Amino acid sequence: MKFGHFDDEAREYVITTPRTPLPWINYLGSQDFFSLISNTGGGYSFYKDAKLLRITRYRYNDIPNDSNGKYYYINDNGTIWNPGFMPSRTKLDSYECRHGMGYTRFKSNKNGLGAELLAFVPVDAACEVNLLTLENTSSEEKNFSLFSYVEFCLWNAMDDMTNFQRNLSIGEVEIEGSTIYHKTEYRERRNHYSFFTVNTPVDGYDTSRDDFLGLGNSNAVPDAVRDCKCRNSVASGWYPAAVHQINLTLKPGEKKSLVFLLGYCENPSDNKWEKPGVIRKDGAHELIRKFHTEEQALEAFARLNQYWTELLSRYTVQSSNPHINRMANIWNQYQCMVTFNMSRSASYYESGTGRGMGFRDSCQDLLGFVHLIPARARERILDIASTQFADGSAYHQYQPLTKKGNLDIGSGFNDDPLWLIAAVAAYLKETGDTSILDAQVPFDCKPGTEEPLFEHLRRSFRYTADHLGPHRLPLIGRADWNDCLNLNCFSSEPGEPFQTTGPSEGPVAESVFIAGMFVKYGKEFAKISKIYGNDQLSETVSKEVQNMYQTILDAGWDGEWFLRAYDANSEKVGSSECKEGQIFIEPQGFCVMAGVGVKEGLAKKALDSVKERLDTKYGVMILQPAYSQYYLNLGEISSYPPGYKENAGIFCHNNPWVSIAETVIGRGNRAYEIYSKTCPSCIEDISEIHRTEPYVYSQMVAGADAARHGEAKNSWLTGTAAWTFVNLSQAILGICPDYEGLRIDPCVPESFGDFTITRTFRDAVYHIEIKNPSNIQKGVTHLNVDGTEVSGNVIPYEKDKKEYFVTAYMG
Ligand code: BGC
Ligand code: NOJ
Repeated sequence: MKFGHFDDEAREYVITTPRTPLPWINYLGSQDFFSLISNTGGGYSFYKDAKLLRITRYRYNDIPNDSNGKYYYINDNGTIWNPGFMPSRTKLDSYECRHGMGYTRFKSNKNGLGAELLAFVPVDAACEVNLLTLENTSSEEKNFSLFSYVEFCLWNAMDDMTNFQRNLSIGEVEIEGSTIYHKTEYRERRNHYSFFTVNTPVDGYDTSRDDFLGLGNSNAVPDAVRDCKCRNSVASGWYPAAVHQINLTLKPGEKKSLVFLLGYCENPSDNKWEKPGVIRKDGAHELIRKFHTEEQALEAFARLNQYWTELLSRYTVQSSNPHINRMANIWNQYQCMVTFNMSRSASYYESGTGRGMGFRDSCQDLLGFVHLIPARARERILDIASTQFADGSAYHQYQPLTKKGNLDIGSGFNDDPLWLIAAVAAYLKETGDTSILDAQVPFDCKPGTEEPLFEHLRRSFRYTADHLGPHRLPLIGRADWNDCLNLNCFSSEPGEPFQTTGPSEGPVAESVFIAGMFVKYGKEFAKISKIYGNDQLSETVSKEVQNMYQTILDAGWDGEWFLRAYDANSEKVGSSECKEGQIFIEPQGFCVMAGVGVKEGLAKKALDSVKERLDTKYGVMILQPAYSQYYLNLGEISSYPPGYKENAGIFCHNNPWVSIAETVIGRGNRAYEIYSKTCPSCIEDISEIHRTEPYVYSQMVAGADAARHGEAKNSWLTGTAAWTFVNLSQAILGICPDYEGLRIDPCVPESFGDFTITRTFRDAVYHIEIKNPSNIQKGVTHLNVDGTEVSGNVIPYEKDKKEYFVTAYMG
């Protein structure tokens, strides 16, 4: 069943009922100011950091679900409704919500009154614009009242939930015409404020939430809306909010547009007060001047569209497969931008107060983003590397605002260091900008510790190379990519919950997955060392990589597939000898991607085992058989019920790994089959089973052991976005940025036919046509570049050339 449809022309998903199985959300904002917005108007806004600079309040795990947002209420002769359905839940005569690239548009109608709400964050401005157009579609004159509503969060979202004894006294507002300022915290060191305004005089306002709602009321039908009369309340402490009341009269056919603006401002810290207690408002006035009229709002909206048109034009495909075209050209790239911006911080499933930017997560997100805005990728790499420890290990997370490592989580995830090499390799291949290797970057953000980025990479590599266990495989530490595989938990007291830190950590558990990573990214590091002019290091690195390759074959091969790990007692994990958890997806994907076992014929065996043992109609599960009970020596993984999350769920993130692995051994049919099982567009028809948004990936789909097999959870913020874009754009469609230039190496299903790709690479645009006359799955025989035959599959790079016309022949 579907709850809407794609509109590819407009680059939108059109939701046709507010009653979607879960809130279906979108993200507004591309750089600093962000809002989450659901298809019923729920969500919240923040500036740069969802924990430290939260502008409006949201309550997770609330009832009704998703019942706080930026709301507009209409009281039309006693009928109270919202254009987005929530929170009044008044049945609408018509409803439509279009989620597009950085904007969301609602269109609804009730009793002959139409409302169209366009919400977006302009490019390069710290505000959200809400353009609301009301139209009388009836044949009678209409008199009605409109009320806006936002509830302010007192900035630090964590404090807002936990330290309210303080917060209930600090809320301050100021009212200036139609502008309501929220200036809480202005007294202290943080010189920021927000405001909510509308471009018309108001007939009333409220700034105290509870005066507006009424004692004991929810926000479904606030008392002031019911009475059609704001209280003109001025908040002092308690719960500051911003409400505008506008009374309107519309003749039949008449329309009226209003521009609401939620803004964030910072003033210079030496200039705090106009007079005691009164803030300087220059910043707000400037924003209001910029986005005051409908024309200005529409102009800003046009600029936003232009911004996305330009970004998305950097990689476009035209093929016989509409799902691939839609996902590659629109939604997959869009999700890559969102995950790049948010890491795993703020979604409808990540609170914004817990995890900030993940070291491993952000490095991976970069793989899908680097082609869009390489300059931001560069900055991100340097931020991430600055949090690295001098011994090459890494803080697992850092806070986006301060950019400092998160002490609460600490370090010890032994895959982290190698992801930095992955990110830098992707950046170098995309841009050719080797100057980044010389950038001076501190360790642990400590001034005076700066070393070139290249040295950071060397230490990443060394950290893994120098922390090997009894089988000469890399030590896993607290966990590797699989956060829940905590193999050093052996000394917890019986009956105690698993522990992944502290005294329970043991030194010996090893990871075959990290070994695969070491081979894959070690090879990259060897190349980078060469590029950096250090041939000797490059050779040493290559030798260590070669040794690890052999170690995997000797100690990491189980007979029909790659082993997953050895636990703290050197017992096998992910082996046919195990009672449960016999085969895991991660080492199959990563070892084969690294090329391990390809020439020995083991790669094919491993991938056949994946198909035989882990495949389902909804995607490939992470392991089988599921753990039926909690095992102390395995940790959190076995704390999940069978079929969920890391315990045999379909973890979407590593599905592209096995799909890419299939392309390594040339099986395009199977690579696409795996791709299509989790591809949002391909499974749109089963939205009632899948339940999360049909235009983006979720972290997990329940596996075959789960009661709700096929149901997805935790949408949006997942490395699936980046890895799938790598899979689709590079492995399947085969346009691979490489150190020397663009390599063309598709691996497609036999029935795929010819296709074309336009790709911006470094300073040039490449128009690439791929011809596959014999319908094979893999293999390019030669290229024709601007009329000249070229053997092999790398497009020779010519300095200063701005446009390439290439035909690649498969055969
Ligand atoms: C989840 C993982 C997640 C981890 C991070 C675990 O509970 O299952 O998917 O990566 O928490 O905090
Ligand atoms: C989600 C985390 O964000 C990611 O870092 C991790 O690799 C996966 N869960 C698997 O545990």
